[in-house]
Amino acid sequence: MKGVVLAGGLGTRLRPLTAVTNKHLLPVYDQPMIHYPIRTLVNAGITDIIIVTGGNSAGDFLKLLGNGKAFGLKHLNYTYQEGEGGIAEALALVEHFASGDPVCVVLGDNIIESNISTAVRAYRHQGGGAKILLKRVPDPQRFGVPEIDGRRVVRIDEKPEFPKSEFAVIGIYMYDSSVYEIIRTLKPSGRGELEITDVNNAYIDRNEMTWEELEGWWTDAGTFESLLRASNLVAETGANKMELTHGAQIAGKA
Ligand code: G1P
Repeated sequence: MKGVVLAGGLGTRLRPLTAVTNKHLLPVYDQPMIHYPIRTLVNAGITDIIIVTGGNSAGDFLKLLGNGKAFGLKHLNYTYQEGEGGIAEALALVEHFASGDPVCVVLGDNIIESNISTAVRAYRHQGGGAKILLKRVPDPQRFGVPEIDGRRVVRIDEKPEFPKSEFAVIGIYMYDSSVYEIIRTLKPSGRGELEITDVNNAYIDRNEMTWEELEGWWTDAGTFESLLRASNLVAETGANKMELTHGAQIAGKA
């Protein structure tokens, strides 16, 4: 399984912090934001990783991360998303890198407390299709929201006015290689983007979607409130620490 960190976009909800730099380079407590999603993948044993960047300061990712030595990696891959076409458009850029393997996709502003190893293992057993991770939140209307029927996800609504559950679909997704074919069928949404929620609904329609509830806290960091919350959560309880199974040493408390 290969790993994908999506770190493009203009981060407009964080202006002026993102006027001259990329959202994923901003600090979350004592680390640049992008460090946390990379840790999420490495801690789940996923070490073949690509960073999709775009917008401002794209070259700074190379300067900051290099070949991923701080994460115990020998190599990191990079690609560039032109414009603001959305999460699913960014994902389409990794088709060549994935070359038929399944991928675990992490949105660059999603930070978790614990780890996703159990979900990744379960997905490997599933032998294809897709898996999403859910977390109960007080404000589901800010996110993709699933309608659940037992172990089945019935559909996902993107930022619904009237959420059908108290869960958010968090920004960690697992897909098989049919995801690119699905993305090619998508049409831009109202906000002019190819939506990851439409990808997930396509897997639901094919009856190939499973879900797990994430343990530990989760937050995004794409608004002033959530960026502050992310820093506070990391400062108070620590985020997913680098597990040293891959010989990595990372500075800092988190
Ligand atoms: C995106 C997805 C949404 C998901 C969220 C998680 O929203 O579209 O379904 O719940 O990430 O962080 P965005 O932050 O792009 O508005």
